[in-house]
Amino acid sequence: MGSLSGFPDGFVVGVSTASYQIEGAVHEAGRGPSIWDTFAHTPGRILNGDTGDAACDHYHRYGEDLDLMAELGVDAYRFSIAWPRIQPDGHGKPNPDGLDFYDRLIDGLLARGIAALPTLFHWDLPQALEDQGGWLNRDTALRFGEYAAVVADRLGDRVHRWITLNEPIVHMAQGYAFGTHAPGRQLMMDALPVAHHQLLGHGLAAQAIKRATGEAGEVMITNNCTPVEAASPSEEDQAAAMIYDAFHNRLFNDPVLNGTYPEFLAAGLEGLIQADDMATIRSNHDALGINYYNPTRVRAAEGDLPFEMLPIEGVPTTAFGWPVVPDGLHDLLTGLKATYGDDLPPIYITENGCSTVEGLDDRFRIDYLDGHLAAVRRAITDGVDVRGYFVWSLMDNFEWAEGYSQRFGLVHVDFKTFARTPRDSYRWLQSALRDRG
Ligand code: FCB
Repeated sequence: MGSLSGFPDGFVVGVSTASYQIEGAVHEAGRGPSIWDTFAHTPGRILNGDTGDAACDHYHRYGEDLDLMAELGVDAYRFSIAWPRIQPDGHGKPNPDGLDFYDRLIDGLLARGIAALPTLFHWDLPQALEDQGGWLNRDTALRFGEYAAVVADRLGDRVHRWITLNEPIVHMAQGYAFGTHAPGRQLMMDALPVAHHQLLGHGLAAQAIKRATGEAGEVMITNNCTPVEAASPSEEDQAAAMIYDAFHNRLFNDPVLNGTYPEFLAAGLEGLIQADDMATIRSNHDALGINYYNPTRVRAAEGDLPFEMLPIEGVPTTAFGWPVVPDGLHDLLTGLKATYGDDLPPIYITENGCSTVEGLDDRFRIDYLDGHLAAVRRAITDGVDVRGYFVWSLMDNFEWAEGYSQRFGLVHVDFKTFARTPRDSYRWLQSALRDRG
């Protein structure tokens, strides 16, 4: 069976990117500084001292990238809008040049028959907001709602589906708890308010999009989800797995889908939750975005955290060292259905893919994508309403703390010349898209 046969009619196949990872042009056209500019320019934070200053130079080369997508034959493109291009200081009057860029990008997509799926926040917070506490400050959620209104007012006539936040768990954990991503705070458990404020921001942005589009715009959040397995049947390890699942998955799924926090975490959030917050957070979710990369195996521990991650043995690993377990995606999807039942809206896989080492031969990526698409197809057969799948990523890009060392692209990028060269996986997906009829 072809990789894309057997999916329901209208199943959306796309590619994903994010602003800071591809755009470059960080000082151009009125863009303000983001927390990633600050972080990347802090010595020792990013492998090899890389920064996103130029990235893939997509800001100037977006026409070529649009053509690459058109030739690939995808239905949709998931990209993110850089908040600091729209509001350089994180609030107030929008920067017209910033809005114009995304306007041109969207027109270019539509001219090529590709739907636009923008994400409003993929981690590049305006530095000015971080200076006031970032997502630790409830005010950032209110600012995010205003920013969403500005963007939806301008682009809502051509964008029919929106993503508010990308992976709030990863932004909270890596950015505020462990400090491995911007803004580099190391607050451990004290990072928890970042969860509630991001979720509130999601709810306010969703309401703003509905208002700006006369209810027509569909809204979703994208959560990074992982099926969690305990290292042993012991009570301690089972409890550790439950706690990890609550942090990584349920902390961001439960409030959106059923308006509650996992009981175990509720105490830590007390005092932050104001009267209408939970209703706001759950008010609009036409779909759920899921980013899946791998399952997680944990056992009980007695350090700062009550769990510890263990390697998953006996499976291939990506260049990043991430285990390749396509079944994990099937199990994740059927598990969500079992947990949320009728509260579960249609799902889009908004990211899935793997990094490889330099070079163009990428049988590994083809097998990875083929295996994960098959897992999605099985989940659909098992009754989960999955409506789309987006490959991470269209092209090699700035992989956060790993700089340019991890290559996730269907298209290879030479970061000296910015030359784009389609890999074998690009050709493979292109022919799968043609064959699907
Ligand atoms: C996800 C991020 C995305 C990319 C992939 C590899 O966590 O959302 O930007 O870095 O991982």
